[in-house]
Amino acid sequence: MLDKIKNLTAEIEALTASSTDEVEQLRIKYLSKKGIVSLLFNDFRTVPAEQKREVGQKLNQLKTLATEKINALREQVAAAGESAEAEKIDLTRTATPCAEGSRHPLSLVRNEMIDIFSRMGFTIAEGPEVEDDWHVFSSLNFAADHPARDMQDTFFISRNPVDVLLRTHTSSVQTRTMERLTPPIRIVCPGRVYRNEAISARAHCFFHQIEGLYIDKDVSFADLKQALLYFARQMFGPETKIRLRPSYFPFTEPSAEMDISCNLCGGKGCGFCKHTGWVEILGCGMVDPNVLEACGIDSKVYTGYAFGMGVERITNLKYQVKDLRMFSENDVRFLAEFDAAH
Ligand code: PHE
Repeated sequence: MLDKIKNLTAEIEALTASSTDEVEQLRIKYLSKKGIVSLLFNDFRTVPAEQKREVGQKLNQLKTLATEKINALREQVAAAGESAEAEKIDLTRTATPCAEGSRHPLSLVRNEMIDIFSRMGFTIAEGPEVEDDWHVFSSLNFAADHPARDMQDTFFISRNPVDVLLRTHTSSVQTRTMERLTPPIRIVCPGRVYRNEAISARAHCFFHQIEGLYIDKDVSFADLKQALLYFARQMFGPETKIRLRPSYFPFTEPSAEMDISCNLCGGKGCGFCKHTGWVEILGCGMVDPNVLEACGIDSKVYTGYAFGMGVERITNLKYQVKDLRMFSENDVRFLAEFDAAH
């Protein structure tokens, strides 16, 4: 009997199985009512009384071993099955379909504008939206009684002890850069600007600008015109013509406004260009010597040009957005229209 138990112990310890069915067969073979281990218990009656204690103990141990072994095999087979199942799942698949966003039209156009100027050697400069009077007005040669200094036109945050305001143009970044660097300086300043306007289809209290500044020895008006012609043709196509009309800005002298041939009718005249064939896109001029001196640059050695334009305006010309308010309403149907644009 003891030998039998010993052999069975070895046999059970060596058991293996590769499926739940096989495990079940083993359970029936060893542990069911007519199983090998159960039958040994029947033989227990025939064991001599003096061996009953030892044999009883061994028998119980054998039964525990068989039960534990079969449970262990069952778990093993189940775990293997799970990992095989897991391998069939594609973990890289998106759980639920999710729509991709698109870039805002103003970002698309701003990036395109910056790209064009960076091909001409301009780098990007940025500055704060909350500014002081010096950087937005005084350093740029604005007269003390200029209307832009009025609450009607500019958002003031405080007027005491100093004027703190929301910048009305990114020319303030040009001032900051001139104060910091020595020429040559060749920068474009993209950013948001604020003006105290009633909101309508044609005006908003904030919009976006890109202004440019180039200062070096011997920079001329011809250089300005050439740079702007290059920009206009890159942005609106190689057939585009430009026209400069005399104008006035406190910080440039001489100053001009630039029109491009209407990109809708090709210059023939249409409702969009009010039948003139031209649409205005920017202001520009030679930096006033007063501005250079205010920023610590010797105006006898250096000259420079500056220009500034609205990103919304350029975007409207490119995509004919009729209402300025659409740019800030975040209507995804409007934004999605630009998905395919780039
Ligand atoms: N700062 C001007 C504006 O906001 C644009 C401009 C920039 C004009 C540089 C001339 C030179 O309207």
